[in-house]
Amino acid sequence: MPITNGDNEVIITSCKNANTQVKVLKYGATIYSWKVNGKEQLWLSDAAKLDGSKPVRGGIPLVFPVFGKSKDPSVSQMPQHGFARRSTWEFLGQTTEDPPTIQFGLGPELADQEVYSKWDKGDNDFTLVLTIELDDDFVRTKIEVSNPDKKPWKFNWLFHSYLRVDDVENVLVNNLPGEDCYDQIIQESYEEREPAVNFAGEVDRIYRNVSTKKILQVIEMGRVVHNVQRNNLPDVVIWNPWIEKSKGMSDFQPKDGYLKMVCVEPGHVHDFVLLRPGETWSAEQVIYKGDEIKSY
Ligand code: BG6
Repeated sequence: MPITNGDNEVIITSCKNANTQVKVLKYGATIYSWKVNGKEQLWLSDAAKLDGSKPVRGGIPLVFPVFGKSKDPSVSQMPQHGFARRSTWEFLGQTTEDPPTIQFGLGPELADQEVYSKWDKGDNDFTLVLTIELDDDFVRTKIEVSNPDKKPWKFNWLFHSYLRVDDVENVLVNNLPGEDCYDQIIQESYEEREPAVNFAGEVDRIYRNVSTKKILQVIEMGRVVHNVQRNNLPDVVIWNPWIEKSKGMSDFQPKDGYLKMVCVEPGHVHDFVLLRPGETWSAEQVIYKGDEIKSY
């Protein structure tokens, strides 16, 4: 059975390899494990809450309708990263047999009411459909955001992917030189001049309007360990909390876990997407293995 639908999670198993699997928590529709031939590809904190008491620290949390904290009046009262990652989504079922593909949905009635009520006047009607497809060497996550409301509203979207590495000190993220960057730590914008992003301290940067033709590669000791392909997601956040910030997060364990992860987060976060009544916006990320550039 490629799909197992449990009380709290759905497990997708590859049709060709029983050791290639994705585990999705219904809370947040959060992918918290992706194994390729038995090897885990995502980082998950040992102290991550998987019981729906707080957003998952690790895996691929979903960020909607605001990235970070924003002064924009429509979202300024909301906690960081909005409500999608703290709402229990509905499992809509399987759409394709091979490669196995499943869908989750979220609307106002299922959204975490406390946070949802802080989006505009708390009455924005919306529909989110998340599609997850697993193949031998990739996982695709596609989001469709629809506006069934009588009024327009706006949002950010981001896939907050925690990619697993052996030692982040040996890691580079390529394909970002020359890009416009906003450094959230020093709160300054500049053009990226380093040949690749490396990790020797806290990194928290938003690269803006990066052509989606660019595949972002996570390279460890000269080998490509993850490729990130984006569709309609022009911004990329690169994040590693390093030592001090990890200490301050109660759900971040072990405390040196920052060495095992790098977040490469495709999103639409620099500007809001404005969605008019009746419109649908869609976007996707594909994380794939191997050292060849491909197009999925
Ligand atoms: C990143 C942000 O996307 O998420 C960081 O750029 C933030 O600033 C990080 O610290 C984690 O956020 P949270 O809310 O999951 O602790």
